[in-house]
Amino acid sequence: MNIAYLNGSYMPAEEIRISPDDRGFLFADGVYEVVRWYQGNFFDMEGHTARLKRSLGELRLEWVGADTFPVISEELIRKNDLEDTPALIYIQVTRGAAPRSHAFPAVQTDPTVYAFARGFDPDPGKYVAGINILMKKDIRWSRCDIKSVSLLPNILCFQEAVETGNSECAFVRDGYITECSHSNIFFLINGILFTHPESENILSGISRRKVINLALKAGLQVNEVAVAEKDIDKVDEAFLTNTSAEVAPVISINKKKIGNGRPGEVTMQLRAMFAAETAILRNHKQTH
Ligand code: PDD
Repeated sequence: MNIAYLNGSYMPAEEIRISPDDRGFLFADGVYEVVRWYQGNFFDMEGHTARLKRSLGELRLEWVGADTFPVISEELIRKNDLEDTPALIYIQVTRGAAPRSHAFPAVQTDPTVYAFARGFDPDPGKYVAGINILMKKDIRWSRCDIKSVSLLPNILCFQEAVETGNSECAFVRDGYITECSHSNIFFLINGILFTHPESENILSGISRRKVINLALKAGLQVNEVAVAEKDIDKVDEAFLTNTSAEVAPVISINKKKIGNGRPGEVTMQLRAMFAAETAILRNHKQTH
């Protein structure tokens, strides 16, 4: 039985009920987080909790229990017997249920907090072979730094990617590549690693930061500078980062080969370094 969390209680997922007046449903007035469980520990739970609190703060959405996110996550892993399984925790916090009005609820309203755990198959083989991605105009709003549940442009772009045999969709804003529908993106040009700087146009990925640190450790020069769409021909290697894929080599963009059309050497080195970090998480199991 799948046990999920709603507003302080753990219950069978099928028993969860949320009001149709919930502002998450009516306005996408909410934020979310996704954190990965590595059979013993979460990946940078501190970073994910800090980002959740920041997203809440930017939307002036109050959840006094935000610091309990790590505890809720552990409970969900335990209650669903996922201790020894690769798993993801999803949490969503909305401004709660209230009569529909664009203004915040006039009466003090509790947020709706929903979370679930899901085991998943990381399928590293898929990433070792490299993935193809699509590139489209970035039609998102100007606060992509907030992990808001309002994801229509991401969904539309990703769906188009899936329907055209691609695994992700990258966005271009004002001629520059920002990030992807649910990943950050890196490019290697003449031995230098480039990725869009932290700004209101991208989500500050937890995996992105980790990879930057690993690259610096490996002696690479990292420029947090956006790459122009017109410079894509100069790219020797490209890869994506996100919580579930870690480091995913990109072998084509809009059907055009990147480098020699195979996962790049530096990319695979960074992927291996990332894997070494997560192996430590697996080996140091917490006691439950
Ligand atoms: N997505 N950019 C966007 C727009 C994202 O939605 C995500 C994560 C990332 C990568 O962030 P991180 O490395 O912290 O996972 C970048 C999650 C996984 C999702 O929506 O499922």
